[in-house]
Amino acid sequence: MSRPLRIGLVGSGFMGRSHALAWRIAPLVFELPVRPEIVILADRTPELASQAARQLGIPRATGDWQDLIRDPEIDLVDITAPNALHKTIALAAIEAGKAVYCEKPLAPDAADARTLAEAAERAALPTFVGFNYLRNPMTRLARELVASGEVGEVWSFRGIHAEDYMSDPGVPWSWRLDPAGGAGAVADLGSHIIAMARFVVGPIDELVADVDTVVTERAIVRGGTPVRPVEVDDEARALIRFANGATGTIEASWIATGRKMYLAFELTGSKGSILLNMERMNELRLFVKGQRSGREGYVEIPAGPDHADYAAFLPAPAHQLGFNEIKAIEVKDIAMAMGGGPAFQPDFREAYEIQRVVDAILLSARERRWVSIDEIG
Ligand SMILES: NC(=O)c1ccc[n+]([C@@H]2O[C@H](COP(=O)([O-])OP(=O)(O)OC[C@H]3O[C@@H](n4cnc5c(N)ncnc54)[C@H](O)[C@@H]3O)[C@@H](O)[C@H]2O)c1
Repeated sequence: MSRPLRIGLVGSGFMGRSHALAWRIAPLVFELPVRPEIVILADRTPELASQAARQLGIPRATGDWQDLIRDPEIDLVDITAPNALHKTIALAAIEAGKAVYCEKPLAPDAADARTLAEAAERAALPTFVGFNYLRNPMTRLARELVASGEVGEVWSFRGIHAEDYMSDPGVPWSWRLDPAGGAGAVADLGSHIIAMARFVVGPIDELVADVDTVVTERAIVRGGTPVRPVEVDDEARALIRFANGATGTIEASWIATGRKMYLAFELTGSKGSILLNMERMNELRLFVKGQRSGREGYVEIPAGPDHADYAAFLPAPAHQLGFNEIKAIEVKDIAMAMGGGPAFQPDFREAYEIQRVVDAILLSARERRWVSIDEIG
């Protein structure tokens, strides 16, 4: 019988529920070196925590996340609370000698992300950040196609993460607009496409960007007055240059009317090209040069058991994995690392590198000039 991995979960919203499901599913479909158990759930109030814990089958609940930090039983603190709380909770967990799994974006800015990475490294504690789309078997395939040279030298990467959950000006002010949590769409969504760009192509060296706030104030309560000014961006665009010479664009928007989950990129290489769109996350489109004239075109490759981790869920291709299964792959990789397996990426150090690009976009837009990522400490 494998040893338990005792988890304290913070937050029971969209991500808290997804993490709870993932920790349940992972040991059913993967052979793990540890046995994950969420032993306690913390939320904003004891009532919220107890209600969610009952529904999710978590034995203990608390209205104070510090209870998880003080609990010597807990091995790993899993943070799905709003962004502005990530740093305080993660630092307290590290000080208490616990491993930390934190939702993205890790911190409000690169300086705070670096503080967290350094604290974890000093304490020699493993850290994990929830850039789950990197775990999609089709994202892994894209990375393989690049790394193996199948699409040749990467010439360009055009990446975007656009959704429309803030497109309605009637959507009230929420924690996502809290400047104490960092930037707006460029952090919330942009961090995912930056993580993807780094994962598939490599480090970004420099960029020039523009950001914009379209809805400049929002009601505190839907339909009501008073209103609060919006101090973060609604959309951002950057021209980027990668360290390996490739060029490209990164775009993020949470006011992209009609778009629901458009995290996508088009990668152009000297021998072929890749299209990947998480709205169709079980398909990768590949073009390879040298096809017969009149028969040229992209091939649509459906996700299947030949691709990383898919076979754990389904024996047949094109039967579709979803968001929560991708999260289950993420927590499987965390459990592997906690059981002495390969180190997990992205960790806090990589999340800091992603945050440097977010900060560079904001600096470039503010000063209206090209910015080297090295300028961001
Ligand atoms: N990886 C992804 O694809 C993805 C998707 C959505 C959100 N996220 C990230 O997950 C995090 C949470 O987002 P969400 O959409 O689940 O938000 P949410 O608003 O649905 O849930 C947040 C939860 O945190 C709780 N909370 C608030 N204050 C708290 C406190 N002081 N102590 C304990 N709990 C507290 C809330 O009550 C709620 O249960 C954010 O950092 C967000 O960026 C990641």
